[in-house]
Formats: sequence, C-alpha cells, structure tokens
Amino acid sequence: MDKEKPKGLGRGLTNYGDAGFSLYLRRSFAKSMGYSGEMLARPTIGIADSRSGYNNCHRHFPELIEAVKRGVFAAGGLPLEFPTVSLGEVFLSPTSMMFRNLMAMDTEEMVRAQPMDAVVLVGGCDKTVPAQLMGAASADRPAVQLLAGPMMPTTFRGERLGACTDCRRFWAMHRAGKVDARGIEEVEGNLATTAGTCAVMGTASTMAALAEALGMALPGTAAIPAVHADRLRAAEASGRRAVELTHTPIRPSQVITEKSIGNALRVLLAIGGSTNAIVHLTAIAGRVGVKIDLKRLNDLSDSTPVLIDLKPTGQHYMSDLHFAGGLGAVLRELKPLLNLDAMTVAGETLGERLEREEHAGAPWVDRAVVRPFAEPLAKEGGLVALFGSLAPNGAILKRSAADPTLFEKEGRAVVFTSLDDLAARIDAPDLDVTADDFLVLQNAGPKSGYAMPEAGYLPIPAKLARAGVKDMVRISDARMSGTAYGTIVLHVSPEASVGGPLALVRDGDRVRLSVKNRCIDLLVAEDELAHRRAAWRAPAAPPARGYAKLYMDHVLQAEHGCDFDFLRKA
Ligand code: FES
Repeated sequence: MDKEKPKGLGRGLTNYGDAGFSLYLRRSFAKSMGYSGEMLARPTIGIADSRSGYNNCHRHFPELIEAVKRGVFAAGGLPLEFPTVSLGEVFLSPTSMMFRNLMAMDTEEMVRAQPMDAVVLVGGCDKTVPAQLMGAASADRPAVQLLAGPMMPTTFRGERLGACTDCRRFWAMHRAGKVDARGIEEVEGNLATTAGTCAVMGTASTMAALAEALGMALPGTAAIPAVHADRLRAAEASGRRAVELTHTPIRPSQVITEKSIGNALRVLLAIGGSTNAIVHLTAIAGRVGVKIDLKRLNDLSDSTPVLIDLKPTGQHYMSDLHFAGGLGAVLRELKPLLNLDAMTVAGETLGERLEREEHAGAPWVDRAVVRPFAEPLAKEGGLVALFGSLAPNGAILKRSAADPTLFEKEGRAVVFTSLDDLAARIDAPDLDVTADDFLVLQNAGPKSGYAMPEAGYLPIPAKLARAGVKDMVRISDARMSGTAYGTIVLHVSPEASVGGPLALVRDGDRVRLSVKNRCIDLLVAEDELAHRRAAWRAPAAPPARGYAKLYMDHVLQAEHGCDFDFLRKA
C-alpha cells in the first residue's frame, strides 16, 4: 500500500503510536466480521444510513441499502454501512430543525473518522438531505446523495390524497366545522400510506430536486417514487458510482460550487419549492464558502418562471413529476439560465448531461405537469425575499402558494408574543381580529428556545375560518412546512428573541406588505420604536445543557442558513 496516500481500510488509522500495529489490528478485527483479505483490499464505500423506527419516510431503507451494496460489490468495492442520526420530521421536539446541525456534524465526523474512500448518503426526510450534504461538503470525501424518493398518493373516495398539503386542507376544513371528528380520523389513515417522503413539493421533495440540481445525486433520480423498482436501480447505480468516484478527483468541493448553487437556486424558484430550502441551501453553500444573498434571490426570481404544476403551488404530486419526465425535463427548459459547466458526481457537466438526454431522442414530457418555458405556471419564481423596517436582514414569502390579492396591503397587527400565547388565544371567541388584520407571531426564531419551528403557518382564527376566511397575511420569525400555503411572511430577521424589530410590534400597529416592492414595513414612528427598544428585555430562555446549549450558543440567523458559526467555511 502507498504509505503517502492510504486507501480503503488503511485510511485514518486509530492512533496507537505504531501505524503498522494499527493497520494489523484493524484488519484483524475486520476479519472477525468474516471478510476475506481480498475483500478488505477493495476500496471501502461507506453508506450513511439514516433509517430509524422514528422515521416513517425511511422505512424502505433496508431494501434500498441492499441495492447500494449490490452496486458497490459489482464495481469492485467493499460497502460498509454505518448509522447516523435520523430526523423523522414529525417525531422530534421542539422541531427537527434544531437537530439538522447535529446530524450534519455526525455525518461529517463519521465520514472523516472512519476509513472510507467514498460515501453514499442515504436520506430523504426534510432535514436529512441538507444535513448529509452539509456534512459531506465539510468532510469533502467523494460522495453520492441517494434520495428516499417520494411516497405515492392514495385514492380515497375518488380523490387523490398525499401528505401533506392535503393534511392541512382537511385540518382547515375540520377547524371550520366542515369535516367532523369521524371524518378526520378516516382521512388520517389515508394521507401517508407508503414509504417515502411527503408526496408534494414540500421540503423533502425540494431538497431532492436541489440535490440533483447541485449535481450531488445521479441524473434523473430526484423524483423516482420510493416504492418504484427504478428507485432500487438508482440505489445500485449510486453504489456503483461511488466506487468509480474513488478513481476520479471529483469531491463535493468540485460539485457544490457557486455555479451549481446558482443552478439550484434557479431550480428552487422554477419548482415553486419550499421556503425551508433557502435556509438549507444557504447552509450547504456556507460549508463551501459561498454566500447566498437574498437580494440576488430576488433578481433570479424575477427571471425564473414556475414550470411545474405540483402541490402546494399546483395540483399534482411528486411521483407525477417522475412519470412526467423528472427533473431533467425542468432542467432542459431552464437550460439558457443555467451554468452548464457545473460538474456533477456522474462525471459529466450539467450541460453534457442535458445534451446527452436531448441526443437520446425527444424525451417524454407530460406538459400538464412540466410546462414549457414559454407557457409557465407563473411568470416569476416561487419565492421572494422582503426587506424593510420590520425585517432589515430579510424575510421570505412563497408567492406561488399565496393569495395575490393580499400582496399589496396595509393591515392592523394582531400580535402573539410566543407559540404558547398563540395556542392560548388564537381561537378565543373574544379575540379582536378581522380578516383584514395581519397576524404577527414573535419569538419563534432560531434562538427563541423553540428552534424556529414550522409554526409560521398560523391558523386562521376559528371564528374567521368558520366564516369562510381561507387566507390572511401572517408574519413571523418562524419557518413554514414546504407543504403549506398562504400569504405567509417567514424567517423575519433579525428575529424577535435577539431584539429584532419584530419584537417591537404591538397590537394595533400598522404594517405594510408590498410584494411588488419587496417590502415589509412597520409603520410606527422612530421615537416610539426607540422607546419600546429601550424597554425591551430578551425573553427568558430555558436553561440549556448539552446539545441544546451548543445550539443556543452558536446558531446563526436565517440569512446564514441557521448553521453553527464554527461550522461554516471561513
Ligand atoms: Fe418525512 Fe414529510 S415527514 S418528508
């Protein structure tokens, strides 16, 4: 073995002060698992397995990982799977977002600390793919992202249902008294019925699309349903490709670059993707030293049309995108806007990939799902960043899933000072609120103690919901599920808990929203604000220890991707 560049099991030896002894001991212990010397001489391919009993989206991973191993063996490698933190979106308290950085650290450290020449990252549920990409970018070992794939929608009483836009629609009807308790129980059993990630263009599907757009997942693999045989073939191909990567110089730092991040931003806008994805993409970019400027997002948004008709922006499901031509169909429409020389883990540039697909004949595209560039679903991109006296460092609105009649509006603030306050009062019969008011939630940002939960989708007060109100302007420093919809201003920065202007809003203040001007302003005189600022006290944070303390001490604001300050590339 080349002592200068150890490979396979010879990488990163455990330190006993004698390298020869360390390798001998490692090989001896590896042989205890029944491997032959020939197998142990192969390139080792780590498989980062994020399955858990608390993660419904990943329940098919045993079969998927078997297919990865098949590909690794076939290409002459030795597959070695290892567990990492698993983040099942709805099973974590206070929110999975708090633990994304923990999983990213786990992934980075285990990829670096264990002997592997390349790694296949197997993830899918919302925070798992960003965490794996963040970790892989920092570890910078050759890596392929394998996605869980979306779950299939279910036909229920003649209607297609899929988590989780339909979850919210039925819950809103239940709150409005249009679906009774028995009805909602029946729906509950029919929203998520297969393995895989949420069925719509929520955060998981968006991050899958971005992983492919970044070039970290193999071409054509983002939208394959979790239960389709093609998903297993994608797994086999990912394992095979990981072995091939060990013979190339392609590492995440060559794939995740300013150019590929620009491509991912275009795709995010064209698919009407999740607001969460801008936070995650910012964090991934930060790991390779690339800054995503929200003003740049607005420039791109103005020139990137929404091309796919998927919930929550449109009507179809993620599995429909696969059968309509996959992400490749979207990328080919966007081709004039993309950086075609961006490298991918497949060993070809994005441009070479698209040319290959074009030369393979006219690929099938279902235009009901993927629109031509000239006939988009919307002329402008799905997300816009807002700035103004209420959000000096920015806020995000998903305009493609919002009510345009509310885009240019001034309203009276109805303020909730915390999530507990919201829960206690939102449905109170005597709540002073009308449909023209703006609901404002404070202290739900990254450092709030709630870890920026997906609470920005404030419920319509019950009395208004019963009267037929379906949307209102809602403003907070929280996030929103990618499967949700509404005129909802999110990620207001600086957040209220660190004394941002959001903390100074009082009931009855006037707030102005202008999507056209990209503005969100608090219409209160500066001397009054100065008075309130002087009286402001940070809310008491619960005592933190362990990881919670690390999180509270180091988490950054939304415009920095909520990464930890010490994890970003200088
Ligand atoms: Fe896993 Fe929605 S709960 S993707």
